[in-house]
Amino acid sequence: MTKKLDGRVALITGAGRGVGRAIAIKLAQEGARLVINDLDAEVAQETAHVIAAMGAPVAVCAGSVTEPDFADRFIASAMDQFGGLDILINNAGYTWDSVIHKMSDEQWSGILDCHLTAPFRILRAAHPVIRSLSQADRQAGRQVVRKVVNISSMAGMFGLAGQANYASAKAGIVGMTKALAKEWGRLQVTVNAVSFGLIHTRLTAASADDSAAIEIEGRTVKVGVNPDLLKALEAMIPLGRAGLVEEAAGAVYLLCIPEADYVSGHNLVCSGGLTGI
Ligand SMILES: NC(=O)c1ccc[n+]([C@@H]2O[C@H](COP(=O)([O-])OP(=O)(O)OC[C@H]3O[C@@H](n4cnc5c(N)ncnc54)[C@H](O)[C@@H]3O)[C@@H](O)[C@H]2O)c1
Repeated sequence: MTKKLDGRVALITGAGRGVGRAIAIKLAQEGARLVINDLDAEVAQETAHVIAAMGAPVAVCAGSVTEPDFADRFIASAMDQFGGLDILINNAGYTWDSVIHKMSDEQWSGILDCHLTAPFRILRAAHPVIRSLSQADRQAGRQVVRKVVNISSMAGMFGLAGQANYASAKAGIVGMTKALAKEWGRLQVTVNAVSFGLIHTRLTAASADDSAAIEIEGRTVKVGVNPDLLKALEAMIPLGRAGLVEEAAGAVYLLCIPEADYVSGHNLVCSGGLTGI
């Protein structure tokens, strides 16, 4: 049976865990060939093993999306491994919260670099490749619609106390999405964002004693949410619960399938019905 994404080459950042991993698995299930990235090579390899075991072609391009040479390396791996580039998902990210008067320059620029500058560099590096693939399609009389999906957050739409850095970056990526939808329409590329509400991952896991932390490029960064706050947040969600990573991946998948070929410049909110925070 033909699958929705048969043979499409999909690149996903931050695919070693959480939502990115679920997106990679979903796209592979639907026939895509995958180039997956994560800061942590080990978890990227683990996702790749799962995908390979499903019988889908997969390559790993590990490293931080904030490395200046990452974008070129990432795009080159897709071309070297699979000779194409059809779907690009900017997902890698983390939170590093504090109120603005306690926020360091490093905290500000670390989050902006990861969530906004890295996607900018990746998309800039993808442009010449996409332009030449699109020219070749036109000359061959093929109609191929390529897809960019940038992952954002309701924090970027409504703000969240303690997240001036993250909310700014996530609002910025929606602006970039809308600008690029206009620039790349003539290349037959749709550019959309997906803004998540509350999705169950290590970033949002209940942490009663404030001890949950992750390692990002040698820094220990506090994550997690106070359990009472988590309960209150879930009570505000019309579906009454946080989303699963598979449900988050489903929203991204919707924008990657041929039925969405005429949807561009959109910010799809995936929040269980929550319309504000
Ligand atoms: N979980 C939520 O409720 C939620 C809500 C809104 C938006 N988001 C966004 O969804 C995306 C995925 O987050 P998640 O909740 O799955 O988190 P996660 O921590 O479970 O997964 C994120 C992955 O990105 C990787 N990563 C982080 N920095 C990186 C870097 N510099 N280079 C390469 N990889 C890097 C991490 O190693 C990790 O494997 C992020 O952009 C996040 O901001 C999440």
